[in-house]
Amino acid sequence: MKILVLNGSPRSKGNTAALVEAFAAGARESGHQVHVIPVCQKKIAGCLACEYCHTKGNGKCIQQDDMQEVYPLLDEAEMLVLASPVYYHNFSGQLQCAINRIYALDKPKNLRKAALILSSGDSDVYGGALYEYQNSFLGYLELEDMGVFTAHGDENKSEAKLRELYEFGQSLK
Ligand SMILES: Cc1cc2nc3c(=O)[nH]c(=O)nc-3n(C[C@H](O)[C@H](O)[C@H](O)COP(=O)(O)O)c2cc1C
Repeated sequence: MKILVLNGSPRSKGNTAALVEAFAAGARESGHQVHVIPVCQKKIAGCLACEYCHTKGNGKCIQQDDMQEVYPLLDEAEMLVLASPVYYHNFSGQLQCAINRIYALDKPKNLRKAALILSSGDSDVYGGALYEYQNSFLGYLELEDMGVFTAHGDENKSEAKLRELYEFGQSLK
């Protein structure tokens, strides 16, 4: 299966990256093709709501930034993994910009499954991101939930948590 991971952390060796790496290693071990986009190392602006994509653009976004390299990956992917540090009880701003730009595709062609990976300082701070995941991705985009994984405080980078993510990736059919 083709899996696209959008990692919304600006810290390339941070907590979210560690969770993503463990997941990707497990999924690759099971033969899946995993593509990780470090969203914060890309230039991806927010949606302009110009509606070019839904009129003259015919599904293409008018903004010529790094989201243009993500669109074909989104269209090919069968599973999307949203990974983010929790910022003010939601996704990082950079990841939110990329999410909003999915608007141009309406519903990515091959996408059927989703998962959520969140890292935070405190526990019980996941409501905002979870609401968006459940309503926009599982609801609107009609994706099957493959799992929600969270790590807070000392759980981040712990052996137990990294093993959990590795085993999740490995378990995917
Ligand atoms: C701008 C900003 C906002 C944050 N907001 C929250 C928050 O609302 N709740 C929380 O528990 N942690 C919050 N944190 C802490 C991060 O979620 C936490 O350190 C996380 O593990 C960072 O992941 P990373 O290493 O992948 O960047 C915030 C951190 C930053 C920089």
